[in-house]
Amino acid sequence: MSLSGQSALITGGARRIGREIALTLARAGVNIIVHYRSSSQEAEALAAELRQLGVKAYTIKCDLADEQHIDELVDNAAQIAGPINILINNASAYPKAEFDTITRSELLSAITTDAWAPFALGRRFGRMPEARHIVNLLDTRIFGDYDWRHFGYHAAKDLLALFTKMMAIKLAPQVAVNAVAPGLILPPEGMPQSYMEGLTGELPLKKVGSPEFVAEAVMFLVQSQFITGQVIFVDGGRHLREAGRG
Ligand SMILES: NC(=O)c1ccc[n+]([C@@H]2O[C@H](COP(=O)([O-])OP(=O)(O)OC[C@H]3O[C@@H](n4cnc5c(N)ncnc54)[C@H](OP(=O)(O)O)[C@@H]3O)[C@@H](O)[C@H]2O)c1
Repeated sequence: MSLSGQSALITGGARRIGREIALTLARAGVNIIVHYRSSSQEAEALAAELRQLGVKAYTIKCDLADEQHIDELVDNAAQIAGPINILINNASAYPKAEFDTITRSELLSAITTDAWAPFALGRRFGRMPEARHIVNLLDTRIFGDYDWRHFGYHAAKDLLALFTKMMAIKLAPQVAVNAVAPGLILPPEGMPQSYMEGLTGELPLKKVGSPEFVAEAVMFLVQSQFITGQVIFVDGGRHLREAGRG
């Protein structure tokens, strides 16, 4: 299916995986609204790069930790860019928080950015007549080993996996709602690439992924007309580790 002329809002789209998703969709002719929180320079530079590819590109700032702003983001994006057909819920906070010490407000904060915001944006988006696809970015670890050092993040992504299925039912038949669950793609901010290489031994495919692999999966999902409520693992088989242990 040709995506040319459609428009996509990508949250946290200025850098890293979101940036690659923006470039991949733009190469297919999709106009892009790059949402950012603090990466304004990167967002503007990306928008300029996207325009060079022949599509329209816009930037929009919003802190997804702020409930009121979440409610306004989709409407504001449509006001500057016109009808939006695709929503990619990519933005994510990754705060350190452990089982023994996490507070209620830390947990609620993680849930707000990583589960509530994608849900609220998706629900508002789903009411727009031109809405067609939502892709939520999960994390392969929520289907396998618990991330004890990022307790709130892990809980929020698990909730977002549930919301993906619930939204797929409630927003049907107009909107397809799917998810991509990346594994080892990019090291956490400030960590070297070698950190990731050291973790590949436990992966069936024995290698680190790349943002391109995630963008390919997103691209596949937004081109599909008969898939909803699904999760694609882009993780070198990491979600199979428990099964592999027998
Ligand atoms: N990297 C990986 O290997 C990996 C593995 C598993 C899952 N994932 C998932 O894949 C997605 C992309 O990964 P990534 O590593 O590229 O993400 P990331 O760099 O950790 O975060 C993407 C963007 O989220 C935005 N963000 C964070 N808190 C926000 C807030 N309160 N309001 C608005 N925006 C906020 C930031 O935008 P600004 O820079 O503008 O502040 C950030 O650039 C995420 O959902 C992540 O959980 C990634």
